[in-house]
Amino acid sequence: MATTPKWIMVGGEGPESYNQNSSYQRALLEAAKEKMSEAIKAKLSLDLISDRFSVADFGCASGPNTFVAVQNIINAVEDKYRKETGQNPAENIEFQILFNDFTTNDFNTLFQSLPAGRRY
Ligand SMILES: C[S@@+](CC[C@H](N)C(=O)[O-])C[C@H]1O[C@@H](n2cnc3c(N)ncnc32)[C@H](O)[C@@H]1O
Repeated sequence: MATTPKWIMVGGEGPESYNQNSSYQRALLEAAKEKMSEAIKAKLSLDLISDRFSVADFGCASGPNTFVAVQNIINAVEDKYRKETGQNPAENIEFQILFNDFTTNDFNTLFQSLPAGRRY
């Protein structure tokens, strides 16, 4: 049986929403960005990428931080691919992003605010 969460991030975009109250978490993403990029550069094997690269956020909430996290990963993977192969990642890699959270998460707000021009 699925676990029922005792609490859930407040959905929507109102004054009490997670959307409007998660700048501290976003700052932590920024702080971790360089380390994450270094780890991808050092550890990711490009052999694992055929033509699609999948990323899952287990706990995406209603945004927008998950989009920042996902974009940081895409940028690091593309950067490594470009440097190591000399090829354009946009022509060779399709990104598939899996946004996961509890079923009571506000996925409507999340999907309504998907970034324009995204690579996934
Ligand atoms: C503090 S929020 C972080 C949201 C976002 N990743 C960020 O960095 O701002 C943690 C999220 O994880 C989700 N979560 C916690 N336990 C989970 C579980 N067992 N399965 C799926 N989602 C879970 C919560 O519902 C919540 O949306």
